[in-house]
Amino acid sequence: MQVPDLSIEISGFKMKSPLMLASGIFGTSIKLLRRIFETGAGAVVTKSIGYVKRMGYNNPTLVEVYGGYLNAIGLSNPGIKEVYKELSRSKINDLPLIVSLFGAETYEFTEMISLLEDLKVKAYELNISCPHVEGFGAEVCQNSDLVKQLIMAVKAKTRKPLFVKLSQNTTDIVQIAKLAENAGADALTVVNTLKAMAIDIETGRPILANKIGGLSGPAIKPIALRCVYEIYQNVEIPIVGCGGIINWQDAIEFFLAGATAIQIGTGIAYEGLSVFEKIKQGIKDYLILKGKRSVKEIVGFAHSF
Ligand SMILES: Cc1cc2nc3c(=O)[nH]c(=O)nc-3n(C[C@H](O)[C@H](O)[C@H](O)COP(=O)(O)O)c2cc1C
Repeated sequence: MQVPDLSIEISGFKMKSPLMLASGIFGTSIKLLRRIFETGAGAVVTKSIGYVKRMGYNNPTLVEVYGGYLNAIGLSNPGIKEVYKELSRSKINDLPLIVSLFGAETYEFTEMISLLEDLKVKAYELNISCPHVEGFGAEVCQNSDLVKQLIMAVKAKTRKPLFVKLSQNTTDIVQIAKLAENAGADALTVVNTLKAMAIDIETGRPILANKIGGLSGPAIKPIALRCVYEIYQNVEIPIVGCGGIINWQDAIEFFLAGATAIQIGTGIAYEGLSVFEKIKQGIKDYLILKGKRSVKEIVGFAHSF
């Protein structure tokens, strides 16, 4: 039998593989992101970049918990001007690079995009879902008017595909997904980390310096999967599944739930960089076993029951 086709396309953005590196895991260095691409990712997403430099929170910012990791990095980043310098002197060329952006105000997003527009960035991902930074992320995601206005303003500034990354830390993620689609999003990334915490019982102190953080890894997989499944029933645009994918079985579940592509973050901490190749091989073997010619054939299959 022929090798199954793993290529996908999202709003004109062609990827050789449906596996993407999730935002925040490997920073903004093109050299490092290219390395991940070369290990088998179909696209790589930068750490979220903001309008101005942010130091982020004090340590500890990351702690392992049962079933995953808790982090409250605090969106530390060098700010758009520095990142622009780094990107403009790097050879992006063939690299399927998606730049993740966060902001507090609409003009911050639109100005960042205007600056990046001439670079060979392939798409943008709007992070409106970080769970632990006041005024950014999830707080934006909960305000329907703001989400609509933001996406429409950004769409007016770019022809590149726009991914919008959603949060489960909201009253109704399906409603926000529909709203994002109506406002012009080309794809939805589902989901960011979930608001969570851990306490040291010896000292009685919350472990993270910020006390509250975001949970990632296998513990959130069933929640992320449910979000993808529910959103698929309500929107037409492609969904990029994200949350706790560490092996090929997890990946297949997300495709069956309705994801066109998937992102991997914490899976790298569990499996190392070979995670992309291992998952790709597992998907190919599964498709052969099921007599399918391409990954597209299984997207949303779970909805036939
Ligand atoms: C250390 C760390 C930093 C992260 N930073 C960002 C970020 O800057 N922007 C963003 O949109 N998501 C960020 N995330 C969330 C991930 O992109 C992803 O949505 C989440 O971890 C769930 O996927 P996973 O279980 O595969 O890690 C971060 C996650 C981790 C663990």
